[in-house]
Amino acid sequence: MPITLHTPTPASLADVVDAVATWQVEGAPVQLHSGDLGWAWRFGADKLAGELRVWRRDGEVLAAGMVDHDDGVMRLAISPAVDADEEFAAQVVDDLTDPARGVLPEGRASVEARAGTALRARLDSEGWTADEPWTPLHRSLATPVEDCGLRIASLDADHADEQVVQDRVAVNLASFPTSTFTVERWRTMAATPAYRSARCLVAYDDADHAVAMTTVWSAGRGRPGLIEPLGAHRDFRGHGHGRAITIAAAAALREMGASSATVCTPAANVGGVAAYVSAGFTRQPDSTDFRRPA
Ligand SMILES: CC(C)(COP(=O)(O)OP(=O)(O)OC[C@H]1O[C@@H](n2cnc3c(N)ncnc32)[C@H](O)[C@@H]1OP(=O)(O)O)[C@@H](O)C(=O)NCCC(=O)NCCS
Repeated sequence: MPITLHTPTPASLADVVDAVATWQVEGAPVQLHSGDLGWAWRFGADKLAGELRVWRRDGEVLAAGMVDHDDGVMRLAISPAVDADEEFAAQVVDDLTDPARGVLPEGRASVEARAGTALRARLDSEGWTADEPWTPLHRSLATPVEDCGLRIASLDADHADEQVVQDRVAVNLASFPTSTFTVERWRTMAATPAYRSARCLVAYDDADHAVAMTTVWSAGRGRPGLIEPLGAHRDFRGHGHGRAITIAAAAALREMGASSATVCTPAANVGGVAAYVSAGFTRQPDSTDFRRPA
């Protein structure tokens, strides 16, 4: 059967999220996660569907890619079933290489392909070169997680205290200078099927300031969960709050049945990597994106 490439409809996004969740496997490289799709869904189903491409063979979803047009990067999630599949690898590399197919933007473009042994080898042999390095981090949840030391408020799809929603959004904005998060976008995200497997956490200090936040995403019981995003309020850094919210994130994922907590951050984000390591995460070897040959 030929391998075909589609743009999903907004109505079929939940199926793509489900497929990507099942490809999260303990011990495999940390790749695009269902939680990444859930986080991107805050801008609405139409926008997310327009950023996604899905490869199928005989109805089976083999891979999904999410394009960030600003950065010219497509982030890929690949089914373990096609890890060593040469036909799949050749087809995907052809689709990514030919600008006329519109899979990757024209000009400078990269692909994040952390899984897919055959695909990675093919990109390599066709002259794709190392681009931005990312640092994956992992914490096993086989044993209970220690108390984080701060008061944590939690937001799930059915329980959303208005003040905590506002704090979640405000701390996001105070953590990432380029963030465009809003309460409306939080509500859009929280209403998606992806968020049924997610939770937001807000940490409060002794004076009841909202000091740190995160969203954690389960991919189902026994699979690695994802932290995306996580930040400490810029006015309250250097007091252990980044470490505390990371520990709280790990504890929440364990409660949700995740086998481990995972996260990826640019290798250049020294503070981010340090906060995760300080919260018991193990730093894994950096992984570079692949830059399309000129
Ligand atoms: C990364 C971030 C969460 C750290 O928050 P924080 O409250 O300042 O961190 P903590 O005080 O808990 O520090 C935790 C550890 O990281 C270290 N650390 C924190 N920022 C650091 C920096 N900029 N450079 C080097 N080390 C740093 C601390 O020394 C501490 O290490 P230790 O436990 O070994 O002493 C915060 O800087 C942030 O929100 N950054 C922007 C968003 C971001 O990058 N998020 C993470 C990646 S998605």
